[in-house]
Amino acid sequence: MRRFVSFALVVAVALTAAVVQAGVREKGKIPGTIVLKVYEKRQVTFDHKGHAHRIGKCQTCHHNPDSEKCSDCHNPKRDGGVPSFREAMHYKCKNCHMRVNKKVKGACMECHPNVRSSK
Ligand code: HEC
Ligand code: HEC
Ligand code: HEC
Ligand code: HEC
Repeated sequence: MRRFVSFALVVAVALTAAVVQAGVREKGKIPGTIVLKVYEKRQVTFDHKGHAHRIGKCQTCHHNPDSEKCSDCHNPKRDGGVPSFREAMHYKCKNCHMRVNKKVKGACMECHPNVRSSK
């Protein structure tokens, strides 16, 4: 019996360690380049890691620092009080681009290479 208990303990400790490690690895992983393709004809490629490093704070874009996939909640179409994916991206991304006003000015082409800018 005693032997069984200590064996179970060893397994439990090993399992906990494995879970903790997996958790840490998940959290530490910042995706590199992301292709946003909720709207097939308007795919946007952006340097996620570059933005994350430059901006420094994940919460500038993510509601939750543990980072969620925006498209899990923001659908192609607005859903009551939840902005559509397009709105979420434009509020978040375009607003900053328009404010930065150095290298980026919020022109459509910065994100949509094949859309002529009206701005
Ligand atoms: C400039 C805005 C922005 C910043 C800053 C940012 N992210 Fe993201 N992140 C995004 C967008 C947009 C996605 C893609 C969401 C989607 O596909 O719906 C994303 C996706 C992710 C995903 C993938 C989610 C999944 O399940 O595929 C992780 C993980 C993530 N970000 C972590 C981070 C971490 C950690 C930081 C801070 C170090 C960070 N992000 C900073 C905008 C940003
Ligand atoms: C778990 C669900 C969920 C995820 C994941 C999510 N959102 Fe949201 N988001 C919401 C809801 C609900 C609202 C509307 C209510 C509110 O304003 O809090 C919202 C509102 C917004 C708004 C408008 C209000 C504001 O806070 O500026 C923006 C912009 C936005 N989200 C961007 C994003 C981006 C960018 C991502 C991914 C990096 C993301 N969201 C991921 C649920 C989510
Ligand atoms: C807080 C400010 C800020 C936010 C939020 C932001 N950007 Fe940017 N973005 C920049 C700046 C600054 C540059 C110019 C970087 C440079 O060349 O030095 C840039 C550059 C870009 C570029 C050009 C090439 C590249 O990837 O560096 C694309 C495309 C882009 N952003 C897409 C996006 C998308 C998509 C989002 C939202 C998911 C977003 N940005 C959110 C500040 C921002
Ligand atoms: C800072 C980046 C950025 C800028 C600047 C920007 N967009 Fe977008 N836009 C996005 C992202 C990201 C998406 C979502 C792409 C996807 O997932 O397919 C999007 C989606 C769209 C869509 C798809 C919605 C649909 O219903 O088909 C349209 C249309 C659009 N943008 C038009 C514009 C126009 C016009 C401008 C200039 C006035 C502009 N965008 C500027 C990032 C940007």
